[in-house]
Amino acid sequence: MHRLLAIALVVACGGTQATPDRPAPGSAAAGAASAAAADDAAGEGPVADVDVPIEPVALQAWLADGGYKAWPHESGKHESAGPHGDAVLTFLAPALVASLRRGKGHAHPKGVAAVKELYEKGKMSGWAVSVKLADDSADGRNWYWYEVFSTARDARATYQGVGFEVCRDCHSERGGNDHVQSPFPLP
Ligand code: HEC
Repeated sequence: MHRLLAIALVVACGGTQATPDRPAPGSAAAGAASAAAADDAAGEGPVADVDVPIEPVALQAWLADGGYKAWPHESGKHESAGPHGDAVLTFLAPALVASLRRGKGHAHPKGVAAVKELYEKGKMSGWAVSVKLADDSADGRNWYWYEVFSTARDARATYQGVGFEVCRDCHSERGGNDHVQSPFPLP
């Protein structure tokens, strides 16, 4: 298990080097965060509660297969209050719903996740994903962040990585509920 996880993390880190026309992630910081997450996971077993892959190729396939479709979700698409496309529809893993029910001021446990469907001109055009990798959010550094602007099974993420700066900056600066921005209960 440890070896598998290490391989997954190496692939995830390799992925963050990607597309030269996009802002490069702080790869040194991302690497350190991945190592911390690997240690954490090796000590306590893999990320619990939720079955969301944190390796980009596997995650894209899981998304394309609708792995999150049975989760509680918003009742309809709405305009994004952030930079997430024309319209969005958020799904929350059951463990995240349970944690949000406790109200503000609690850190969500390791393993919670959210998936947001992105829409352009009424058509689903991609996903944004967040997965918490440790009980302490560490300002978003202990979350895995992923955003892709295609629904093709083999599409590559535009942004992804443990603690990916662009995502964690906004999600931690805006406050929300331990980095979760969507209103709760879900509209
Ligand atoms: C400028 C601010 C901003 C940035 C940058 C940002 N987000 Fe968000 N994000 C939001 C807001 C606001 C919401 C609430 C839903 C909405 O209105 O789109 C949200 C919602 C989400 C959700 C649904 C769960 C939740 O927290 O409500 C996910 C998953 C998500 N973002 C992932 C990402 C990823 C991955 C990135 C980086 C690629 C990212 N976000 C970058 C503002 C931001």
